[in-house]
Amino acid sequence: MKSLLELAGKTFELSELEFNSISELILEKAGINLTQNKKPLIQARLIRRIKKLGMKSYRQYVKYVNDDRTQNELRIMIDLLTTNKTSFFREEEHFDFINKNILAQRDLKQKPLKVWSAGCSSGEEPYSLTMLLKEKYRYMAKEDFQMLATDISVEMVHRARLGVYAEETMESLPATYMHKYFTKVVTPESRTKYRVKDDLKQHVRVARLNLISEWPMKGPFDFILCKNVMIYFRHDLRDNLVHRYGKLLKPGGFLFIGLSESLSRNSGELNYVQPAIYCKPQ
Ligand SMILES: C[S@@+](CC[C@H](N)C(=O)[O-])C[C@H]1O[C@@H](n2cnc3c(N)ncnc32)[C@H](O)[C@@H]1O
Repeated sequence: MKSLLELAGKTFELSELEFNSISELILEKAGINLTQNKKPLIQARLIRRIKKLGMKSYRQYVKYVNDDRTQNELRIMIDLLTTNKTSFFREEEHFDFINKNILAQRDLKQKPLKVWSAGCSSGEEPYSLTMLLKEKYRYMAKEDFQMLATDISVEMVHRARLGVYAEETMESLPATYMHKYFTKVVTPESRTKYRVKDDLKQHVRVARLNLISEWPMKGPFDFILCKNVMIYFRHDLRDNLVHRYGKLLKPGGFLFIGLSESLSRNSGELNYVQPAIYCKPQ
């Protein structure tokens, strides 16, 4: 006879049918392509939620997500299934490029910069760029540089808005930046954390946005960073997104994608500049 534990384990095995319905839902709602090799990941990430809700199977959970008119559970599910890996000054080459090729001869007073970090995760990317600009233009006013930072994940949007980071997260940041742009705080649990100073934060507007839905903003942007986001999307959705980015860029504006990504030939009118950097013709 099977033990209770074995029976419980059996109930929580993700069947092929359940995997298909979860991956179809995530593809439809977030554009994310969960391939077969992501099965253990889905299982590991959803099991705690399912148990917390007192449910007995993934099938029951998917039905619950679909029946929830508020879409709150869908948002939770998306939060659980997105990959949010990021760090300060990730893929440094891009920051070097921006420094040398975009900021070098730019007078922000005459030509304010407008940038979009699409899929910003917990905010390290938009804050890194803002620090780079602060280093270049010490007396930069709020209207000289505007950074829009968006993500689909409610939790990541909350974290990016808060701008409070654990000590481990700060390791990729030069110490001078840490002292200049962050305030040390000690949490009630006696953990040391670092909070982004208001002087930096004032340039960054964080909002929740699903990239495969309608976009409320008009642009145009000097450059758009959509790094390590489209890598999880289906090809046609990726091409469509790149086309929409192209429309929102100023002539001569740049699109940055992750270093391990590349654009397909159907990605519209953007010209290749160097790995993972594309430019809209003037
Ligand atoms: C791996 S992180 C990349 C963060 C940052 N751009 C970087 O390169 O370090 C990918 C982010 O894309 C977000 N994302 C995934 N699908 C999305 C969608 N449909 N709309 C908006 N953001 C999405 C995830 O929530 C996640 O925070």
